[in-house]
Amino acid sequence: MDTGLQDKVVLVTGASGGIGGAAARLFDREGAVLVLHGYRNLGNLHALQEELTGDNVLVSADLTQEEEVEHLFRKALDRFRRVDILVATAGIWPPEDEPIHRMTLERWNRTIATDLTSVFLCARAFFRTLERTKPESAALVIVGSTAAVFGEEGHADYAAAKAGITYGLTRTLKNEIVRIVPRGRVNAVCPGWTRTPMSAAGLADPAVVTRVLQTRAHTRVARPEDVASAIVFLSSDRLAGHITGEILAVAGGMEGRLLHLPEEVNPREA
Ligand SMILES: NC(=O)c1ccc[n+]([C@@H]2O[C@H](COP(=O)([O-])OP(=O)(O)OC[C@H]3O[C@@H](n4cnc5c(N)ncnc54)[C@H](OP(=O)(O)O)[C@@H]3O)[C@@H](O)[C@H]2O)c1
Repeated sequence: MDTGLQDKVVLVTGASGGIGGAAARLFDREGAVLVLHGYRNLGNLHALQEELTGDNVLVSADLTQEEEVEHLFRKALDRFRRVDILVATAGIWPPEDEPIHRMTLERWNRTIATDLTSVFLCARAFFRTLERTKPESAALVIVGSTAAVFGEEGHADYAAAKAGITYGLTRTLKNEIVRIVPRGRVNAVCPGWTRTPMSAAGLADPAVVTRVLQTRAHTRVARPEDVASAIVFLSSDRLAGHITGEILAVAGGMEGRLLHLPEEVNPREA
């Protein structure tokens, strides 16, 4: 099926990571031109570039820093003159479980800066670019998380940041983008557990995997490609041209979370 993404300029944040890298490969296959962003793992980005066949440029930036986000978009415009699609996948998931009464302000601020403020900065730079270049169509795809939908015990920081981008930003920016580009669209993809470097430590524990899978219709963990194909679908005007402001879960039919182990529940006292 033709996605119509041939020659579209797509900026993927977090292309050095698992989901961003998989999305970049799919966009490349569709003939898109890519701005591949990474932060610390530039080796991954160079390896990705080796695999791709289309035109692309690599840019490193800490997306929590305003001037680095501006540098990223400047590099993209210098090279390709416009950005048609922004895919915001960069983010962190602090590996330690910390209930709110133990969470430091330092951790809270770091997560909010990386998972929420960075998306604000990138979306703002993207919209400013659209205002200048006025492309015929434009799409923003934000990568949230099922933590936005169900919350996540031990990760109030992450759940709050992801809810901010998934609900607050997606549903506001879908109305703002059309003031600049009348056919512009903004959607969010919410992955559940997906096999990437981010989740590797958690998924190495069979007890965690069992607990996660018990909440789903499909008893397997997502591959990065499962999420990437949802991102490409929502980026394509040809496939998703009348879809905007939507939140698409890619989580195998997840219904919620198992909160208690069997030994923590006494049916006789229920
Ligand atoms: N994997 C899952 O189970 C899962 C589940 C739900 C949601 N998600 C979401 O999916 C997105 C992608 O995650 P992933 O699994 O692909 O994780 P990943 O492999 O760890 O990739 C994370 C990406 O974010 C970039 N990044 C981190 N801090 C940054 C900063 N300060 N500035 C700029 N870039 C930064 C990393 O860049 P460098 O590596 O170059 O430093 C990397 O490219 C994230 O938003 C994550 O929250 C993932």
